[in-house]
Amino acid sequence: MQNIIEEIIFNFSNNKSLYLGENVTIADHMLQTAMLAEKNKSSDNLVCASLLHDYGHFLVEDPDKLVDEKIDGEHESIGANYLRKFFPDTIIEPILLHVEAKRFLARDLSYFKLLSEASVISLKLQGGPMSDDEIKQFKSKPYHQEAIKLRRFDEGAKNPKVRLKKIKEYKELLISKLK
Ligand SMILES: [Fe+2]
Repeated sequence: MQNIIEEIIFNFSNNKSLYLGENVTIADHMLQTAMLAEKNKSSDNLVCASLLHDYGHFLVEDPDKLVDEKIDGEHESIGANYLRKFFPDTIIEPILLHVEAKRFLARDLSYFKLLSEASVISLKLQGGPMSDDEIKQFKSKPYHQEAIKLRRFDEGAKNPKVRLKKIKEYKELLISKLK
């Protein structure tokens, strides 16, 4: 099972593509999300989920193309379904729900205003803010609160000036969370 750890480290280390319309790479964005989770004294599971939340973007061929063509790549389910073989629900479910969490939070105007331009565009593709029924369903899901926390770190993790940790610094944590 250690292979997945090597694969994760390889993908992070070799990722050069910018995160959909932002000024940071996908890898840097995820590292920064994990660092924010740590700064906010999150559980190890949430740090790990934050670190891997956009892993699906590594698995689709050209994420930028999807945005250009206005297609929702459903990166959250691609990433979660792939990683489910290796990591437990405590990590996978917040990853799976982090886009729903964005749609949940987007009902609140003060949150909506925080969204970057690219994030507003993808929100539209993802279905826009949730309806009342969707809110009810979302709140009934285990791990929805972790997903909301993850989503808040996610939103704040697009700063190109932050000094980042290296993916290798998370190796032990990743190994400790393997199924
Ligand atoms: Fe993200």
